[in-house]
Amino acid sequence: MTDDQADNALQQARILMQALPHMLRYDDAIVVVKYGGHAMGDDKLARDFARDMVLLEQAGVNPVVVHGGGPQIAVMLAKLGIKSEFEGGLRVTDKATMEIVEMVLAGSINKQIVGFINAEGGRAIGLCGKDGRMVAAQKIKRSDAAGNPIDYGFAGDVAKVDTTVLASVLEKELIPVLAPVALGADGETYNVNADTFAGAIAGALGAKRLVFLTDVAGVLDQDGQLIKELRVCDIPGLVADGVITGGMIPKVETCMNAIERGVEGVVILDGKLPHAVLIELLTDHGAGTLITR
Ligand SMILES: Nc1ncnc2c1ncn2[C@@H]1O[C@H](COP(=O)(O)OP(=O)(O)OP(=O)(O)O)[C@@H](O)[C@H]1O
Ligand SMILES: [Mg+2]
Repeated sequence: MTDDQADNALQQARILMQALPHMLRYDDAIVVVKYGGHAMGDDKLARDFARDMVLLEQAGVNPVVVHGGGPQIAVMLAKLGIKSEFEGGLRVTDKATMEIVEMVLAGSINKQIVGFINAEGGRAIGLCGKDGRMVAAQKIKRSDAAGNPIDYGFAGDVAKVDTTVLASVLEKELIPVLAPVALGADGETYNVNADTFAGAIAGALGAKRLVFLTDVAGVLDQDGQLIKELRVCDIPGLVADGVITGGMIPKVETCMNAIERGVEGVVILDGKLPHAVLIELLTDHGAGTLITR
């Protein structure tokens, strides 16, 4: 080894050692990562994301991936000429839309992510809420501001989570990749918002962290500035004031529920940052918004 090479090797060793306290903190912990549809779409980023998952697994963390797919569903619906609308950040889902949602989420996107992780040397397994009766759904019941019920069609909430399948998958050191599609007691297929689904899974598994990868830096304030730390009690006010709208609403609502159910902290960060998850979990540098009790 030349002096230069020795210096380089030492520097690499130092960098590896810097991750040790973080690895110890997350040793054997479950980390649920919600991979937003808006954060996908770029092959290089998808590969980085997949490598992060493999590295976490090898570092003794148990990553569980839950993915969305809003933009990809929109593209397919447009191709097929099917119209769909959003109310309060949730998709109003009729039968025809639901078929496409399942096809895109539990089919192409799910298998794409599994493929990326496996290509990087991991062993991912793609499932949806229907598999092993992991998630039971129920029809969403919400009202508008005037108190009138909104019919979201086959858009579901989580009624129950059964962690049997996930526990055995995690025990085998496989990385579960979950599509937010689930069966209702009525035998119908429901599309659960991926954020809600991820929160329910994180709560049921007793995850240490829930990480949302989205297409913005985190929760932004009324001036568009990043809010670095947020307490659960601050959230309802931000929604009421119209600072938090659209797709950010199910995210922050999920954060509140997940924290209530024992998840230690939730992070919302920009999935377009290369290695966003690794930086968040295994370095001293936090990005995005950290939400705690
Ligand atoms: N206060 C806010 N701070 C940040 N983003 C906000 C805020 N209010 C609304 N948003 C919107 O929320 C969006 C993120 O949610 P969205 O549902 O679009 O993406 P996603 O959940 O990552 O992807 P998918 O729904 O496909 O899984 C942002 O792009 C932004 O437009
Ligand atoms: Mg969303």
